[in-house]
Amino acid sequence: MRRLNWSDVTPKPLWLNRRQIIAGTAALMAGPALAKIEAAPSKYSTDAEPNSFEDITSYNNFYEFGTGKEDPAAYAGGLTTDPWSIVIDGLVERPGTYDLSDVLKGQPLEERIYRFRCVEAWSMVVPWIGFQLSGLLDRVGVQPSAKFVAFETLVRPEEMPGQSSPFIEWPYREGLRLDEAMHPLTIMATGLYGEEMPKQNGAPIRLVVPWKYGFKSIKSIVRISLTDKMPPTTWNMLQPSEYGFYSNVNPNVDHPRWSQASERRIGSGLFGGRQDTLMFNGYEAEVAGLYAGQDLAVDY
Ligand code: MTE
Repeated sequence: MRRLNWSDVTPKPLWLNRRQIIAGTAALMAGPALAKIEAAPSKYSTDAEPNSFEDITSYNNFYEFGTGKEDPAAYAGGLTTDPWSIVIDGLVERPGTYDLSDVLKGQPLEERIYRFRCVEAWSMVVPWIGFQLSGLLDRVGVQPSAKFVAFETLVRPEEMPGQSSPFIEWPYREGLRLDEAMHPLTIMATGLYGEEMPKQNGAPIRLVVPWKYGFKSIKSIVRISLTDKMPPTTWNMLQPSEYGFYSNVNPNVDHPRWSQASERRIGSGLFGGRQDTLMFNGYEAEVAGLYAGQDLAVDY
């Protein structure tokens, strides 16, 4: 399949381009047409070449739909994402149950092409569409005593077959320190490749924190809570010795069962794709200051 050269083309022709590629390969027959989203380009985008739409939507982790990489694409189609609302509660000035349209109101959408590094030592480059989480938190008003932000995914076993397994204590949970949540690189993503979010990637709205391992980027969010204590998180609850709260991409701190020094770029072939992992996934200049004075081998 021909690779897109994302940086060379404007969004509209690119979108058409992708459609032609898909039509040509007939690989992605499944799924309804996704609505197109307009978004401004971002100064935070990497100029690394994005993975193909097919890579990004066919090799996923979304345990609510099963543990296999193909399960989300196979089983997420039945998820109802409209209507969708998000409870925003805890230490906020304006708690409430916000309809998705209300969550999005006034938040400027950007296209953010980010490197994305999974803890399993593979990576992709994804052209997300989203807005800064800080914009939403400012709108609901964070109380001075808040120190952390906790997130929860939908629990709906009738549409999420993976939730019949007790392997994870549902809901899937994640959390950030407040300064991490307010960082301009941290986005709520509502789409990718110029279209609304495919269900297997966390429709209708998910978190993306590009300097952290992919599991921090929680999908299909229904609750955001401001707290004064570090919240419990799914992978830390499952195996605290392997998955810390911070989970910053760090080639110098290995996972107990494998090295984190290098990664396999999905879609680059069996032999060509190995590359060195960068500190904070390449976002060191932007985020290292958040962790000044912390020992990242302890706060992993
Ligand atoms: N969010 C939920 N709710 N459930 C999940 O299983 N998997 C995480 C993260 N967010 C997961 C989730 C992991 S391990 C990764 S690597 C990324 O989603 C994968 O995102 P992608 O499928 O869009 O590449």
